[in-house]
Amino acid sequence: MFGLVAVPSGRQLLLTLDMSSRSHLTVVAVSDLQVRQPAFTFDDVEFLWNPTNPAYSVFVNALSFWVIGLERYLVRITKDADANITDPAVREEARLFMQQEAVHSKAHRRHVKALVARFPGLHAAVEMVVAQYDDLYDRHDLRYHLAYAAALEGTFTPVFGTLIEHRAPLFRDGDARVASLCLWHFCEEIEHRSSAVTIYDHVVGDRAYRLRVLPSLVRHVNSGFNALLHEFQTHVPGEAGAAHYGSTITRLLGRNANPFATIPLRDRIRMAIRGIASLDPRFDHEHQPIPAWADTWFAHYDQGDDMTQFYGTATHLATPVDAS
Ligand SMILES: [Fe+2]
Ligand SMILES: [Fe+2]
Repeated sequence: MFGLVAVPSGRQLLLTLDMSSRSHLTVVAVSDLQVRQPAFTFDDVEFLWNPTNPAYSVFVNALSFWVIGLERYLVRITKDADANITDPAVREEARLFMQQEAVHSKAHRRHVKALVARFPGLHAAVEMVVAQYDDLYDRHDLRYHLAYAAALEGTFTPVFGTLIEHRAPLFRDGDARVASLCLWHFCEEIEHRSSAVTIYDHVVGDRAYRLRVLPSLVRHVNSGFNALLHEFQTHVPGEAGAAHYGSTITRLLGRNANPFATIPLRDRIRMAIRGIASLDPRFDHEHQPIPAWADTWFAHYDQGDDMTQFYGTATHLATPVDAS
């Protein structure tokens, strides 16, 4: 028999009792994941919520729409995987991973709802991303879904870690509600950095197959983002043909068109290399360099600070809690 016990650090302990020996008690730490629920609100949020970085504003808006489809999909496939999980520690990791993703999706939905309230045509974009992931769910089996999740989630620590490190040009001058939504989400993506890979390795275990889904994963994500940019230009006044979208060429060359242009080239290259390396079956997801600021975020949360406007330009607080 076994049971879970929560301890003050948030870590959960798995207690196993060997009934045959009557005295054998084993204690195993199973998960550090915490499910946090900051109460974000986004009334009257601007479409270009960081006016100093419109290309990045648009990228984050697309991220908010995309997350609704993606994380709903992640919750569905993790529920499906449950019947195939035989290790209680992996089951607990999957349960907490799924809960974190569900909360992320709910928070981004609030951001999107505020954008749709201002620009009603964007409702079509919500339906589009949900339909894209429903279609993906219907067309493939559980093995594919878990490989998709593991490959994608594996890249998040290099990517979101870099965005956290370069948070100043990306978020500091932007609406603190949107900036804080993203930084919370990025920190928790790093916190559960090995969850999807752990589930995949336990349920499927074919590490080469995870690589084989990569081309269709990249096509799916790219087409989803491009379709969202098209929806923005169709339904948001002033966005059609705006410089911060650029063309294929200007997206490569033009500062306005690249959402990551404010990140030094050296760090963008490092991000790309580490993102590709994360796909290597031998990559150690658990032991990756983590931005020190993520610990700052967790420490402020633990001491009860308002994390809904923790970073950026506050809309109602005198100053953000953290301005580093
Ligand atoms: Fe998430
Ligand atoms: Fe995630």
